[in-house]
Amino acid sequence: MAAYRAADIARELMRAGHTVRVVMTHAATRLISPDTFAALTGNPVVVDVFDEPVPGQIAHIRLAQAADLVLIAPATAHTIARLAIGLADDMLTTLALATRAPILIAPAMNPAMWTHPAVQAHVQTLRARGVEFIDPTYGLMACGDEGWGKIADTPVIVQAVQQRLQRSRDLAGVRVLVTAGPTYEPIDPVRFVGNRSSGKMGYAVAEAALAHGAEVVLITGPTQLSPPAGARVVRVQTAQQMFEAVQAEFEACDVLIATAAVADYRPERTLPLKRKRTARSWTLRLVPNPDIVGTMAQRKGERIVVGFAAETDKALAHAQAKLRQKNLDLIAVNDVLEPGSGFEVDTNRLTLLYADGRIEPLPQMSKRECAEHLIRAVAQLLQAKRAQA
Ligand code: CTP
Repeated sequence: MAAYRAADIARELMRAGHTVRVVMTHAATRLISPDTFAALTGNPVVVDVFDEPVPGQIAHIRLAQAADLVLIAPATAHTIARLAIGLADDMLTTLALATRAPILIAPAMNPAMWTHPAVQAHVQTLRARGVEFIDPTYGLMACGDEGWGKIADTPVIVQAVQQRLQRSRDLAGVRVLVTAGPTYEPIDPVRFVGNRSSGKMGYAVAEAALAHGAEVVLITGPTQLSPPAGARVVRVQTAQQMFEAVQAEFEACDVLIATAAVADYRPERTLPLKRKRTARSWTLRLVPNPDIVGTMAQRKGERIVVGFAAETDKALAHAQAKLRQKNLDLIAVNDVLEPGSGFEVDTNRLTLLYADGRIEPLPQMSKRECAEHLIRAVAQLLQAKRAQA
């Protein structure tokens, strides 16, 4: 039954002004004919990986690149599993891997299947990767069972698509500067003072800002990560270099998001040669580094400046103080001693503190989802600021 609803959804999306291209799995063609969708959308339907509606063009790459959004409706447990593990064994899953567009999934299956831990684990995996779900509703299924598993109503799906497309444009024309990763402060040519920041949070923030249509400059300390496609990347080692890079880019930016774990101190002098081991103790004198976000925010003008606070005790009180002292619009605080929060792990639990006193505690989620929440908060702050101006 849900397969028929796909035709309904395609029609409503076209009514809303979208161009709809349909890709079907082989299983779906047993329930509804590709000709139905071809007639409905006025476009050829692709089923097989080797289908080439336009000779010479590789269909899955062309469709993947042309799409502003990929909606998988209805999605079976099997397709959700294939997407979660990254299989590319048919046109749909190949396209889902090849696209950089946001993916929305509207599942439809028997209630026992939807609530099965295996399915839910795949849903979690996909959510953590930024895929969004339009949750199934409660109802009577074709098999006679009643429960959660019925594909969401067409207007709900169409609205989810519209909202997701809207979100991918709400930072269009906005220039976002992100600092990320640790800084390394050299002691001698082989040693440094640094910290355990992996850069994951900052890279996720840059990626989320890009997904909202922003122009992104990512100023990053040393990390093992590959930067998100589309960001302009400036690589630095030390706090001083990061400070200089931020100063060079600040004028042209609308938003600064400082996620970097900047080393607060650096060795007073860097030894030109490797220091040799001796039996005596050694005192290393450290001097303070500039407070990058604090300095920039003093002359922020109309810009939105966002900081992070990694705390180990009295997290909220310390973050409140930083918000005020550094003249920030928003600070995202996490307790790095809490399991699943902080360095190297893929999850985080943030609380957002706003300059106007609002406090927004977020549940524990992937750093990617945290970044998405943060970017939505920034988009709202920008909107409010522009409405005031
Ligand atoms: N920050 C910065 N430059 C520094 C230190 C921190 O720009 N030299 C930024 C971080 O990127 C973060 C915010 O300031 O957005 C708070 O960083 P944090 O290390 O928590 O604060 P500190 O001011 O260093 O205070 P403390 O280490 O004493 O907690």
